[in-house]
Formats: sequence, structure tokens, C-alpha cells
Amino acid sequence: MTTLQGKRIVLGVSGGIAAYKAIEVCRRLVDAGAHVTPILTKAAEQMIGTTTISALASEPARTALFGDLNTPIPHTKIGQAADLLLVAPATARVISDLRVGRSADLLTATLLASRAPLVICPAMHTEMWEQQSVQENISVLAARGARLVGPESGLLAGGDSGVGRMAEPTEIVDAARFALQPDYLRAKRVLVTAGGTREPIDAVRFIGNRSSGKQGHAFAQVAANQGAEVVLVTTENHSTPNNMRILKVVTAAEMHQVCVQEAPQADLVVMAAAVADFRPKHHVAHKLKKAQGLPHLELEATEDILAELGKQKPRGQILVGFAAETNDLAQNAQEKLRLKNLDMIVANDVSVAGAGFDHDTNIVSIYLPDSPPTNLPLSTKTTVAEVVLNEAAKLCNQADKEPK
Ligand code: CTP
Repeated sequence: MTTLQGKRIVLGVSGGIAAYKAIEVCRRLVDAGAHVTPILTKAAEQMIGTTTISALASEPARTALFGDLNTPIPHTKIGQAADLLLVAPATARVISDLRVGRSADLLTATLLASRAPLVICPAMHTEMWEQQSVQENISVLAARGARLVGPESGLLAGGDSGVGRMAEPTEIVDAARFALQPDYLRAKRVLVTAGGTREPIDAVRFIGNRSSGKQGHAFAQVAANQGAEVVLVTTENHSTPNNMRILKVVTAAEMHQVCVQEAPQADLVVMAAAVADFRPKHHVAHKLKKAQGLPHLELEATEDILAELGKQKPRGQILVGFAAETNDLAQNAQEKLRLKNLDMIVANDVSVAGAGFDHDTNIVSIYLPDSPPTNLPLSTKTTVAEVVLNEAAKLCNQADKEPK
């Protein structure tokens, strides 16, 4: 992973309640060897003051465009010298200013006066985050290449809970590291699948599984952040802003059809979806009534999409699968790697606390043919995606060099 040693990072802090967490972000960046210049908006200054963050940063926090006689035009000096711009928390106001290119204060002026990569960590109440205007602004910034970290779902200010909570400082620091790497998937075409398929029994009932789609969506977002052209085939409706093509599906058969169409064009396929292995052979169009007695469910196997993609894999394509296991993780993962003709498999024990279905975190081991596994500790799904995609990008680059 890229080092932060000696990197000049502008840490923009705007006025959300999560501003207090910016102090820890600052501390961790400095501990990792970065040179951190904090810039606080007036609202952030009101909330957390400048004393603590100034003591922990590499230089005193700045809050104003004017008044520093040693640096009469600070925004250009700081912006031009920066290796990375990190805004944590980013409020709806700063996001909106960035979208329209409005220089309203020292922070927004500095962000505009820089060509450094930009990482935005939104934090706000759910109602604000879900406003169409905010979603549009954030999508435009993502499409222009800004990296987004969070927001997550959880406790918010005032005792509320929902989407809008700022990502945790460790995740923000990891994102800063990855943002300092050149876009390792630039111009690569990446197909990602996400979520659990639903196999209908009748008009209202289905056979499904506990997959939330969070890991697959994190893969898609990180790949897009890393410059890839992403097609996301998903069963889920996550509100993450996207700079990618999204194809919604419900059943294994629909996912199969779309994947078989899309995969031949992809340089990298990440099959993170939890595809049902069996479905009712027949389903009825109306709702089955209790009074009619217990239905007889005859099941049939679904298509093994990944196995099929493995069989028809074009030369040079990298195929990444997943193994959701509750026992014999290593053995089962290695067997799936071989049987499905994969280049990499990401295995997780879904029975372990904090891993697998519906968590924001995961614990995975990465297997490649003929090498010992890489075991990741408990990490956010974004970090898992960063690490796996980083490895996959190396395989893509190797494949590019092989004679066609
Ligand atoms: N997969 C698939 N199509 C299926 C079932 C699974 O493409 N019908 C893919 C999954 O997306 C995953 C990999 O195969 O990348 C392994 O899925 P997993 O559920 O762990 O294993 P299965 O192959 O279904 O085998 P089992 O359920 O017996 O462990």
C-alpha cells in the first residue's frame, strides 16, 4: 500500500457534528508521516475550535483567506503544494460549492486552487443526504473523479439514526492512502455483481438469502474511483451516488443473462453476488392462499454464472469469485478457485461476527492459484474492495503484458 510519508495533505473540515472526528483523522495522518495542513470553515471553527487540531497537525489550522501577512494569498500556495485534498466532514454546503466552483471561503478557495486528487467524506442528516440536489451534486463530483468515502448508516446527531454518518477515521486514512496511488484501474472495463438473487414462489413470496449487496457496491464504487469503466449488475437499491452503468436484476436467471452479455467486454469481473443455487421449478402469478393447504415446492438448480464465465473466459480477462463458507474455508475456497477457473477468490466465513452478510465490515482471505493466502483483519467493505482490486489490477497488468 502507498505510504503517506512526506505527502502534503490539506485536511478540510467543514461544520458538521462529525468535525470532532477530523481531529483523529489528523492525528492518524500525521502519525503515518503525512504533512497535514488543516483548514476549518467558520462553522467548523465554531464547533471544534482550532487549538486541538493545530497542536496535532503539522502546522496551525487556518480559517481565513485574509490576515496572514506572511502568506498574503494562502489558498494558492497551499492548494498548489498539496498532494491530496481531503474534506472530512464534507457538508452539503461545501459539496454544493465544489460542484458549482464557488470560492466562498479559505477552504473552498484552496480546493479550487489545486490539481491534487480530492477525497470527500460527506456527513449530514439522512434527510439532507437524500435530497435530490445533494445527490446530484455528489454524483457530479464523483463523475469528475472525486473519491467518496461514506457516508455510513448509524447514529446521527440528536439521537437520530440513518444514512449520513461520516466514515470512521481509519477508513478515511486508508482512502487517503489509496487516493495517492495513480488510478490503478484507469481505462479498465470492470463488471461487478452484487446482492442476493430472489427466486419467486408466487406473486409475493420468494427464496432469497441474507446478502445486502454492500460488498459488491463497495467494489463498484472503488473501481469507479480508480478510473475504471464500471458495469454494476445488482439486485439492490443502495443510495450510493454512482459514476457507473447500473443494471438492476432480480433473479439468478436475469443475472445470468446480463452477465453472459456483459462479461466478454470486461477486463475484470468481480462476482460478489450471492446467487441462489436453486429456485422453484414453477411459480404462480397470484398469491397462494393458506386455505388451499401447504404448497408443494419442486426445486431446480440455477445456472452457475461464475462457472460459466470461467469456461468462456476470454484471453487476458481476470475473473474474481467469492466463497461464502461456514466451515473448511481454505479447502472450499481453493476448490472453487480451481473448479470455476478463477484467477482469484475472496473467501469469508459468514458465521464469524463482523463478517459477511449485512455488516459494514468483513474478514476475508484472498487466494490466488499456487500462492499462500493473504488474510485481512476485520476491515470495512471499502477497504476489502481496495485491497482486492489493487491485487486484481496487478493481475490485469500482467495479463496485458502477455502475448495475445
Ligand atoms: N455463483 C454463481 N452462480 C451460482 C452460485 C454461485 O455465479 N448459481 C458464484 C458466486 O457469485 C460466488 C461463487 O460462485 O462468486 C461462489 O459462490 P458460493 O455461494 O460461495 O458457492 P457455490 O458455488 O454456490 O457452492 P456452495 O453453495 O455449495 O458452497
